[in-house]
Amino acid sequence: MSTKYRGKRPSHGPGGHAGNKPAPGAATLAAAVEVVAAVVSGGRSADDALQETAARVDRAAIQAIALGTVRWYLRLLPAVGKLLQRPIADLPPPLAALLVTGAHQVEYSRAPVEASVHLAVEASRLIGAARASGLVNAVLRRFVREREELLSDAPAEGQAALADGDIARRTAHPHWFVQQLRMAWPDQFLRVLEANNEHPPMTLRLDLSQLSGEQFMLEWRALGREAALIDWRPGAVTLARPAPIGVIPGFATGRVSVQDAAAQLAAPLLQAQAGMRVLDACAAPGGKTLHLAQLTRGLEQLIAADIDGARLRLVEENFARANAAAPLVSAELVRADLTRPAAELIECLQPRSFDRVLVDAPCSSTGVIRRHPDIKLLRRAGDIAGFQAIQRAVLKNAFELLRPGGRLVYCTCSVLPVENEELVGEFLAAESRASALPWPLAVPMPPGILIRPVGWQLLPGHGAGSDGFYYACIGAATDE
Ligand SMILES: C[S@@+](CC[C@H](N)C(=O)[O-])C[C@H]1O[C@@H](n2cnc3c(N)ncnc32)[C@H](O)[C@@H]1O
Repeated sequence: MSTKYRGKRPSHGPGGHAGNKPAPGAATLAAAVEVVAAVVSGGRSADDALQETAARVDRAAIQAIALGTVRWYLRLLPAVGKLLQRPIADLPPPLAALLVTGAHQVEYSRAPVEASVHLAVEASRLIGAARASGLVNAVLRRFVREREELLSDAPAEGQAALADGDIARRTAHPHWFVQQLRMAWPDQFLRVLEANNEHPPMTLRLDLSQLSGEQFMLEWRALGREAALIDWRPGAVTLARPAPIGVIPGFATGRVSVQDAAAQLAAPLLQAQAGMRVLDACAAPGGKTLHLAQLTRGLEQLIAADIDGARLRLVEENFARANAAAPLVSAELVRADLTRPAAELIECLQPRSFDRVLVDAPCSSTGVIRRHPDIKLLRRAGDIAGFQAIQRAVLKNAFELLRPGGRLVYCTCSVLPVENEELVGEFLAAESRASALPWPLAVPMPPGILIRPVGWQLLPGHGAGSDGFYYACIGAATDE
């Protein structure tokens, strides 16, 4: 039997003492519900929606509840939906988000289930759904009693194994993504889906010209904290537990930055040397540009280009942080749309003039779902073709900016071959001056990296413990 929402004022059940001060925690839950609704119904990114809670003392708790709910939304939604008499999509978005967030708290938080239900009922008043508090109470109480059955993952009768749809629900991913992932990585896709639901490690990049791994470990342990150096990536450190950036020694002066280990491969793969002209073609917010500047001092020129002027300001902030103690690194910021032919770009982006070009292309971000679980809800199958069109154009035009004999690194944080090896393969087939280059001997290869027909793929949950990332190194033929 399902529970009906009649929009009537409920009798005051648990926590339903209208007019009283809400229970502690209800305001936190209500704020998390607003974030969930902003993602699910407003199509906003969780980072963007969470900005509105940045000044609150309970922001960490709001973030944990909201991201946890978003992570498991596609598993919880059908279960909660079974308890309603009408489609959950017909409920006001904040009320639907409250029911799923409440179910998340019951299923995944360490709080006693009674307390989670009580807080959800209290939160209904705070999100303007006081009249539905009886429904919230009834639905969540039934969810508590029946959740094992509601969330059951058993294959349908007569089926030996879980179908894509069941796997999608069990792992809380969109169906289209499970299908594409299984097709691309039949032996790895289940582990990737599981890894996407794990809490990501906090990984740091040390500027080894200012600070050794051993020095950092001493400073970090002196604070009573633990970390481990990543053996395959010099200067990369995984913290045993995430920490606020304010407590990380060296962060304020750029000796230390926050960057996943996979992203730390871009700069070394580019193999820049002092005296070279380097272009970071899709640079914002500048994590890789700063790495390039810190790894190779004495570049003749480093240009950070991006289509988005607001995001370019983040590159500026990154460099300001790195120069806080002393002026050490610099980059020229240029607003440019690299989907435009090289000849139409501004003067400083001359065809055939750069020794090195990095193309960290905009993509589906399907390799970083564990860090941004809202990607599961925001990304649609139809978005991929749009990303491909930009990737194709940016790669083609960025290659035009490369001088003969120069080196280009193409990368994405996508796990979909259509944005990666297939796209680069098509480019190499069409561009006679371009050829695939081998992995540089001087750069240690991460464990578990997949050597592809073109380039290399890192998958979440496989060996390196990093995000999912794709890299290809491309050379421009020398003029004969
Ligand atoms: C994956 S992000 C880059 C991340 C950055 N490299 C870092 O490590 O911090 C992709 C960037 O490409 C930019 N972008 C998207 N379309 C572009 C275009 N047509 N031309 C130049 N940049 C573009 C986006 O604004 C975004 O900042």
